[in-house]
Amino acid sequence: MSNEASEIIFRPGLEGVPVTHSSICDIDGLKGKLSYRGYSIEELAAHSTFLETAYLLIWGELPTEEQLNDFQAEVQMHRRVSFRVRDMLKCFPATGHPMDALQSSAASLGLFYSRRAIDNPEYVYDAVIRLIAKIPTMVAAFQLIRKGQDPIQPRDDLAYSANFLYMLTEREPDPIAARIFDRCLILHAEHSLNASTFSARVTASTLTDPYAVVASAVGTLAGPLHGGANEDVLAMLEEIAAPDKASLYLEQAIAKKQKIMGFGHREYRVKDPRATILQGLAEELFARFGKDQMYDVAIALEREASSCLASKGIYPNVDFYSGLVYRKLGIPRDLFTPVFAISRVAGWLAHWREQLGANRIFRPSQIYTGKKIRSWRPIEERNIEMGA
Ligand code: ACO
Repeated sequence: MSNEASEIIFRPGLEGVPVTHSSICDIDGLKGKLSYRGYSIEELAAHSTFLETAYLLIWGELPTEEQLNDFQAEVQMHRRVSFRVRDMLKCFPATGHPMDALQSSAASLGLFYSRRAIDNPEYVYDAVIRLIAKIPTMVAAFQLIRKGQDPIQPRDDLAYSANFLYMLTEREPDPIAARIFDRCLILHAEHSLNASTFSARVTASTLTDPYAVVASAVGTLAGPLHGGANEDVLAMLEEIAAPDKASLYLEQAIAKKQKIMGFGHREYRVKDPRATILQGLAEELFARFGKDQMYDVAIALEREASSCLASKGIYPNVDFYSGLVYRKLGIPRDLFTPVFAISRVAGWLAHWREQLGANRIFRPSQIYTGKKIRSWRPIEERNIEMGA
């Protein structure tokens, strides 16, 4: 294709360009509606559990009681990780980012379960179970290891979310806190062709193993324009420090053409429905366990932004209130994005399966802007030309 012809269809960031058919998740960015497999996010967050939602996303339908019990039991059985994975985590620098530790440990699972039999339904089921079961354990293990402690083993009497909070904080969580955390996982589980899911699908399209698929998605999620934004939101709220400073901060940031973290979304022109639910969860949590002062700053920032950013269709996204919820739950700031990964692995795996169902390797084209063909010259000639 000539450059002239391809420029007509070139869309930076692939904005608005469909790259696949998908039946997993639907977003109406003008109405602020999000659904997984036809179920609204509001209904799922109110009534479902993370594991039930993960099952729905990956296998396409809500499970029967027996299917759900089997799925939960399998996940529970596979929560432990090999001592070799724990030893590997111990070798990582304690100062490293937990997303890097997670990306490496997720990839390392491919060494332990390396058959790459992706056309075998049993292998697929086992990989789904292992990834959903072990990622929380690896995130919690790295957290304790970097504090100089030994990781603690999962507790079989605790459900998925409660067990993660227990492995992380070494305390059995309050049931309301555990339920709120589980609802956060539901909200983050899937969001169509975001950068990390696209990355997962590209990797999946090469027919590599699911551990490599998830590891590539984790690496993509880590960036500050994607999952990493929730860490930056808290830093920004702390920098603003007080509700009456929000207006000045906003004015100065906009003048400097700085992005307001936790605001804006390629898909939404209204407030992200997940941000609305997360705000409700934050309020529920604060009512029970005491308020985070930064919540008032967040409210003030959202209010001030409604006069200058909303006209451009820029509203709070999922990352704006999630950090406040996670902090109240006792989750350290640099674990916010790994927690996002614990949840989003469900969506990545759903897309992995869907990609394999109608696979064609991703291989987009480009518009070449480099030099035309020229002749190689000896280094002496180049030295003279450069004055070296
Ligand atoms: N603050 C201020 N202005 C913004 C923001 C923001 N957060 N987001 C977008 N804009 C402005 C841009 O400056 C640009 O304005 P201009 O046309 O006058 O130059 C316009 O809106 C379009 O912005 P883009 O960056 O081109 O929008 P894009 O769709 O490419 O980016 C993104 C979406 C990356 C989410 C962006 O809004 C952003 O960087 N937000 C802050 C980071 C963030 O919160 N990321 C988390 C997203 S949710 C998730 O990934 C889980």
